[in-house]
This record gives sequence, structure tokens and C-alpha cells, in this order.
Amino acid sequence: MTDHSLLQRIQKTQEDFQFKLNKVRSTDDLEAVRIAYAGRKGIVSDLFNQLGSISPAERKEAGKSLNALKQTITEAIQESEKKLTSKGVQQKYDLTLPGEPGFTGRLHPLTYVLREIKSCFYNMGFSIAQGPEVETEYYNFEALNIPKGHPARDMQDTLFIDDDIVLRTHTSPVQIHVMENQPPPVRIIAPGRCYRRDTPDASHSPFFHQVEGLCVDEGVGFADLKGIILTFAKRMFGSDMKIRFRPSFFPFTEPSAEYDFSCLICRGRGCRVCKGTGWVEISGAGMVNPAVFQYVGYDPEKYTGYAFGMGVERIAMLLYEIPDIRLFYENDIRFLNQF
Ligand code: PHE
Repeated sequence: MTDHSLLQRIQKTQEDFQFKLNKVRSTDDLEAVRIAYAGRKGIVSDLFNQLGSISPAERKEAGKSLNALKQTITEAIQESEKKLTSKGVQQKYDLTLPGEPGFTGRLHPLTYVLREIKSCFYNMGFSIAQGPEVETEYYNFEALNIPKGHPARDMQDTLFIDDDIVLRTHTSPVQIHVMENQPPPVRIIAPGRCYRRDTPDASHSPFFHQVEGLCVDEGVGFADLKGIILTFAKRMFGSDMKIRFRPSFFPFTEPSAEYDFSCLICRGRGCRVCKGTGWVEISGAGMVNPAVFQYVGYDPEKYTGYAFGMGVERIAMLLYEIPDIRLFYENDIRFLNQF
């Protein structure tokens, strides 16, 4: 037998082995093939024995391809065994592993904060009122004592649908709807979306959310307003929250104020969110102007009331230390996942 024919036999063995392996259907079939080719007295070991009978120069090449054949056969048998045994199946799919949890959504931070605000006021005896986002000029301005040509109409950069119809610039028109539809006493909050012609930046958005508050009864005073706002602030943020009122002007309240919450982020030392002042502006408030009562037919001699606004985004920014209002509206999952 020549070295040439040994190389040929190696080649032929490879082909035969592949042919037989393709026919394997069970572990018994496979074991028979393994014994025939890779067993101690199998074909491969027989070929190794023949290496000794060829010339040393050619032994090198034949040895090399014989080693390669041995490796190919060993690997192919292992591979085939994996496919045939249930162990192989289990390695691919471990049925004992816990399932991958599905994606669960969560509440948007504004929805969450709005729910908290609502439940706070609900627990203090307020009911929830609603009004349209597309308003007539009458409800958005006129009945709130803001007549045509009044500078307050400029103050609120309004989105007009036509001469008479606007996207509401605040939730205060809901005060009018509620009072038109029920006699005193009134104790409501009105949460909802508002629109203004603002260019978006870190603290402005052309749409945003407010919660309006209105309480009308006999003998309601400014102290009641302060008490309600302070109680809300402490329930929402914790007992060390402080509030302050600054004199201001709104045509539908008299006297009017703007109110701030103490900045819990820096505890008054001054930071980005409070712009270094230690206070975060929340909205306006005041005693309902008797002129408004006249529009809705309430007796201003008998009844008094307070009203307040509340910027929902501002509350959320203070609660979660969010430095930019635009984050609420961008639907960036990296932001939303944090709540
Ligand atoms: N509507 C006012 C605003 O949007 C806030 C406000 C509400 C002021 C109620 C007084 C009373 O700025």
C-alpha cells in the first residue's frame, strides 16, 4: 500500500462517514457509527496504524490530514448527539428558566401628580369639575371681568380659533360654567389642559396643565384660602413645606396674590429650579371679584369666595426635581421609565 493510497483512503473515509452519519436517526444508530469510525478498533485508528508503513517524508502530510479527519469525526458525532438527545433540546431551551417579564407601562408623571392633587382636594371636600378646552371669549375673558381691550387679554398670549372662539388660556372659565349651573355653596377643583402662544423653553410650553380651585359660601375669607393651600402643600410635599403669598393682580379676584412653595430641592439655599430664590412660583389666587358674581347671578352681598390656580407641571417639577418642562411631552422612554 503506498502513501498515495493512504491519503486517498483518508479522503474516502471522510465521505463514507458523512454518508453514514446522514442516515443516523437514533442514538443507537449514532453509537454504531461512532464505534465503526472512532472506536478503539475503528477505521480511524486502523488508518493511524498504517502511518508507520509509509516513508517519513510523506508521513507528515498523511498524519496531518488524518488528525483533521479524526477531529472532524469527533465533532460531528458530538453535534449529532446534541441534536438527538433531550439533553441537547434542553440546552437550547431551558424550560425551567422563569419567563421573561412582558413590558408593562406606567403612569405618566403628570397623570400621577394630577391624581395626587385630585385626591388631596377630594379629601378636603372638593368635587371635580370639568370644562371645554375650546372656549368662547365670553367664558375665557368677559365673564371673568376681562373686557375687550383689557390689557389682561394681551398678558395671556391667546390662540384664537376665530374672533370669538379661543383655546382656553387658563382653567378659570370653568369657574363660570360651574357657578352658572349651581347655586352656592361651591367647592370644586377643575383640572385640565390650557394653551398659550408661548415658544417652548425650559419653563414654557404652548400647552400645559392647571388645576383651578373655587370655593364660594357665606363668610369665606382669605384665611380659608391660605389654610387650604398650606394644607395641600404639606400633604403633597411633606410637613416642612412652606408657602408665601405676594400681592398681584387678576381682574377676576380682588384682592389678588401669587403664591409660591418653598424649594425643597435646595431647601432655600437657591438652585436651578427656584432660580436661586428658594421659592417656586405655583400660580395666582385671590378672593372672587364681586363683579364675577354678578355675571353668574350670585348675590355679592351674601356670598364671598376664593379662587386659585395651580400649575401641574410646576408641582411635578418640584416633586421630582425636573429642570425642563419639555421633558414631559417628548415621550422619551428613558425619562418616563424613571417614574
Ligand atoms: N387663571 C390665572 C392664571 O392662569 C390664575 C388664577 C386662578 C388667579 C384663580 C386667580 C384665581 O394665571
